[in-house]
Amino acid sequence: MIKTSLLLRILARGPLITSCSSKNGSGYVAIRSASSLQEPYESSEDDESNNNIDWNNLGFGLMQTDYMYTMKCGKDEQFKQGQLTRYGNIELSPSAGVLNYGQGLFEGTKAYRREDGGLFLFRPQQNAIRMQIGAERMCMPSPSIEQFVDAVKQIALANKRWIPPSGKGSLYIRPLLMGSGSILGLAPASEYTFLVYASPVGNYYKEGTASLNLYVEDEYHRTMRGGAGGVKSITNYAPVLKAMCKAKDRGFSDVLYLDSENKRNVEEVSCSNVFILKGNVLSTPVTNGNILEGITRKSIMDIACDFSYKVEERCIPIEELIDADEVFCTGTAVGVAPVGSISYKGKRTEYKMSTELACLKLYSRLVEIQKGTIEDKRGWIVQVD
Ligand code: COI
Repeated sequence: MIKTSLLLRILARGPLITSCSSKNGSGYVAIRSASSLQEPYESSEDDESNNNIDWNNLGFGLMQTDYMYTMKCGKDEQFKQGQLTRYGNIELSPSAGVLNYGQGLFEGTKAYRREDGGLFLFRPQQNAIRMQIGAERMCMPSPSIEQFVDAVKQIALANKRWIPPSGKGSLYIRPLLMGSGSILGLAPASEYTFLVYASPVGNYYKEGTASLNLYVEDEYHRTMRGGAGGVKSITNYAPVLKAMCKAKDRGFSDVLYLDSENKRNVEEVSCSNVFILKGNVLSTPVTNGNILEGITRKSIMDIACDFSYKVEERCIPIEELIDADEVFCTGTAVGVAPVGSISYKGKRTEYKMSTELACLKLYSRLVEIQKGTIEDKRGWIVQVD
């Protein structure tokens, strides 16, 4: 007779993946039992096998990978020790702080495979710091920078067969921090969970690398003064869905939001920062508490300085976009995406597209640093293995 523990182990392990019609934009759907059974990580031959994935057609759909990382601590405590378990559903009280009051943050970072097979991360410490700042805003304890980076490295290594070949995409790593403890009256939760999972990804937009057509929204706003727009709170994302879905239904790629006070100054796109270029001056909205301090945003600003652009963080009225030479978006998921048009109050402004765009030059430099074909003089790259 098979022992229950062994049976659970067999059920949890297979089958890992099957090919079928696309549900997630990738052409493949991973099959896994509904529960992870919280089985600790043990590397096996299975983990090294080739997935038969069509790496040329990765989108930004979830593809379940093998392992996730979890670490818990109580309110007023510090995170101590986490562990890898098989990827699967988690158990959460119906009265968890995150479910009832949105006490949660997320991050996004990517692991890349280089030509020589080496595995690398891009500035994961910055994500750790941003999570700490967000946790302070949302009254949560947070992992230390070392714990955060270690967890991200462990997830990249444990799921390394899911890291696409060089140039085909990356492993998007999603760290979450949430109030997992029960609470009824509005207050910080009694327990916190730091959880990291991952999925291989390609281009974020269905447009691929083509330019974006943005709709400028002046009814719905992403955030407001004194809100949590400057941190990666989960509560910043559901409120954009209405405007985003409306714009997508009308054929736009995404929405550009204006500030809620004046309904005039440019803030962000649904999940990316925005830049404008006029002559030699590259400008992006100043991080006044409403704007997320994007890691790609910061990196592009540094690279632009290397290319002798004048870089400005300031208030940008929407009228300036009408007159810009280039508009583009930046984000971990998005990368750097040129904007082909913006539509505002019934008027469409189009931007000239070419392979010579400054934003493509800046992005190429970023990718070269990630690929290791150019010197990483700022120490942005972290080796995984
Ligand atoms: C990221 O760039 O990591 C994001 O936050 C995008 C996500 C909302 C899909």
